[in-house]
Formats: sequence, structure tokens, C-alpha cells
Amino acid sequence: MKKLIITIDGHAATGKSTQAKRLAKKLGYVYVDTGAMYRAITLFAYQQEPIGEIDYNLLQQSLDQIQIHFEGKADAQQIFLNGTEVTTAIRKPEINNLVSQVAAKEPIRFFLKKLQRELGANKGIVMDGRDIGTVVFPEAACKFFLTANVSVRAQRRYEEQLAQGHEESLEAVLTNLKSRDALDETRSVAPLKKAADAIEIDVSDQTIEEVFERLYAQVLEKLAL
Ligand code: DC
Repeated sequence: MKKLIITIDGHAATGKSTQAKRLAKKLGYVYVDTGAMYRAITLFAYQQEPIGEIDYNLLQQSLDQIQIHFEGKADAQQIFLNGTEVTTAIRKPEINNLVSQVAAKEPIRFFLKKLQRELGANKGIVMDGRDIGTVVFPEAACKFFLTANVSVRAQRRYEEQLAQGHEESLEAVLTNLKSRDALDETRSVAPLKKAADAIEIDVSDQTIEEVFERLYAQVLEKLAL
């Protein structure tokens, strides 16, 4: 049976991973959360330098000591950094505040792009991120770009963080989202942008279910081609 590479890019807190997990589950595909990979590298750097600035030269030299892998099915996936499970640790506010800086560094993107392409080598994959349809798998047959109003996204992320036990004010979440969007969109390497052949969906006024139906219908169309 035909297998696709499905890419879901877009702004932070638009529900990319929720949709990607559901699609992967429904299709029996592998799910890869590339944001979690950038977060795991950020956590590694933070553990080396919890107080001062990140030493990017040192981080670049340490990349060959970093091993990232995923375990478990799409809806209960865990991420491991050098053998330690860090699924919750990578969602801490400290990591939220640093991750866009780390993700702007070319050697780090190069390192992760190689790993991401390896993960998708056999197709049958749903990968979400910021540059998956533009840089990592420009050849993918099925690409989506999700966006939404920033206050809707901040409320979403705020509730998500609370549920995970990370307390941060709604205002702080909003400020963080805005600055991350700006960094992600303006960086020189692989900036966040819609691939020319991606389908853009504004999810501000749509339920998770409605968005999923649209994505799934599109996937079925691509599978039928
Ligand atoms: O999706 P997320 O919030 O977990 O992503 C964390 C950060 O990683 C985000 O600020 C941008 C960056 N990122 C990226 O630059 N490229 C990707 N493919 C995925 C995430």
C-alpha cells in the first residue's frame, strides 16, 4: 500500500502535535515531534549551563555526545535524551524561553535535519515542526501549515502547561509565544514559513475534530492519487 510523508508546520500552540498524533494513529504511521527534538537539545545545553548563557561553541562540539530517540506509540510517545526519559522536563518554562535561540543555530538544525530524514526514510510518517515541508522533506506529498490568532494560542498553551503542573501566567505565556514566533519567522536558517505547496488552515475558530476531518480528507485524496 502507498505510504506518504505528511508534514505539519505552523505557529506554536496551534495543535500541530495533537493533529499529527491523531493522523499517525489513524493511518498506522510513525509520529515524530521535531519540536521535542529541539527542546531535548535545549535541555542538554541548560543542564550544562543552568545559570549563565548557553555556550554555543561548546554545544556544537558536544552534538556527537547527544542521542535522542522516541519510544512508544503516537498517542503516548516518550522522548529520551542520552537514555534518560525527558518527556515532561522539555516542556518547562525555562526550556520554552531558550528553545528558539537554540533552534536558530545552523549546526544544530543540520544535526537534527539528518536525524529527521533518517526517521522518515521508510515513509509512513507524520512529522510536525516549523521547517518540515520547506527544508526537511521538501519532496513530501502531503503538507499542512497551521496557524491561529495569538490570543487563542496563548490560552491553549497556558491550559496545557497548567495541566502539566508548570505554573506561568497567561501574560507570560503570551509574551513567550510572540517572541518565539518572531524568532522562528525571522531567523536566517530555515525560518518558519508555509511551503508553496502546503495547505494552510487557520484553526482559531475550529474544533480539533473539524481540523482533523479536513486534514484526513486531504490525506485520503493524496493516497488515492
Ligand atoms: O513545537 P514546539 O513549541 O515544541 O517547538 C519548540 C521550538 O523549536 C520552537 O520555538 C521552534 C523550534 N522548532 C524549529 O525551529 N523547527 C522545528 N522543525 C520544530 C521546532
